[in-house]
Amino acid sequence: MKTYNWGIIGPGNIAGKFTAGLKTLENARLHSVASRSAERAAAFAGKFGYSNSFGNYRDFVSDPELDVVYIASPHSHHYEHTMLCLDNNKHVICEKAFAFNSSQVEEMINKAKQKNLFLMEALWPPFQPSYKKAHELLAGKKTGRVKYMISKFAFNSPYDPAARTFNPDLAGGSLLDIGIYPVIDALTFLGKPGSIKTSTVFAPTGVDSSIAVLFGYEDGRGASLYSSFTNDGGISTEIICEHANIKISRTRDHRQLLSVQFSNGEEEEYSFIPVSMGFNFEGEEVMKCLDKGLTESTVVPLSFSRQLINTLDEIRHNAGIIYPLEK
Ligand SMILES: NC(=O)c1ccc[n+]([C@@H]2O[C@H](COP(=O)([O-])OP(=O)(O)OC[C@H]3O[C@@H](n4cnc5c(N)ncnc54)[C@H](OP(=O)(O)O)[C@@H]3O)[C@@H](O)[C@H]2O)c1
Repeated sequence: MKTYNWGIIGPGNIAGKFTAGLKTLENARLHSVASRSAERAAAFAGKFGYSNSFGNYRDFVSDPELDVVYIASPHSHHYEHTMLCLDNNKHVICEKAFAFNSSQVEEMINKAKQKNLFLMEALWPPFQPSYKKAHELLAGKKTGRVKYMISKFAFNSPYDPAARTFNPDLAGGSLLDIGIYPVIDALTFLGKPGSIKTSTVFAPTGVDSSIAVLFGYEDGRGASLYSSFTNDGGISTEIICEHANIKISRTRDHRQLLSVQFSNGEEEEYSFIPVSMGFNFEGEEVMKCLDKGLTESTVVPLSFSRQLINTLDEIRHNAGIIYPLEK
């Protein structure tokens, strides 16, 4: 089994969780960390066990021993950091939202193809046991077709104009940060919608603090999606089928729950507790693809990331969410 040297750009909150996932993988070597500050890079490297740290991105990407980079900077910087890595011949897995609009994502995909390098959006749900179970149930005949979906991702995050999540210059707001998950679920279980309606609440900084989105489909199917920083609404997706109601949810102690109620009265319940909160699966997928010489994943194909960002653009256009970077 080949061992890969991993590097991180953006050593913040999620980079620590992703690293905990990498640590469970025998063929992942924690190689280097890049921050805007040499002190922060060294502190993160020391805390999590990376061998090298850099206070600038240029020296980090020039390292010939670095194989693959996980990008965990704010949404505003995903394009710039991904292009820098690809230009320097590094494979990339980049956090969601892949970039803040579709033209950036197109350029990232074109660059990866042109350089024959691996590129994947770091999407957590497709790899998780609760989602795999939902697909397994839907593939059976008992549930019937999916007719409607209700999905929410909401938690109280006190308003702080300095926080990444409320900062329009960092492409903050609930939609790209957490509302992306209900959108992913709708695209996964129902496909691309025919119509989109939105109702948005804006924070004083101009980003969306809450957004409700209604997807309509020509055959009468639909989805109701919601994200918010203003209440503890929780994380759940209900998939309403002809003969069953499937509910996937996450608890605060990181359990993944799935319950299904069939029209005939039967009920099933499942609880999953993956190691490292399931963050190991994405790193594992990257290295499996690299072992096979693939430049994209079949679990999170670039076509899905393209459809996702196009849909997010449409939602933002409908809601009037514009980042200063785009003006
Ligand atoms: N997959 C998931 O479950 C999940 C969960 C949470 C977040 N995310 C995603 O992960 C990404 C990072 O989120 P996070 O919560 O980890 O954010 P965070 O804690 O704020 O960390 C982001 C890091 O990016 C670096 N950075 C580079 N340029 C920056 C700039 N101009 N302004 C601020 N920071 C900058 C910072 O490191 P230095 O200051 O050291 O350079 C910072 O520590 C986002 O795309 C977010 O949507 C994913």
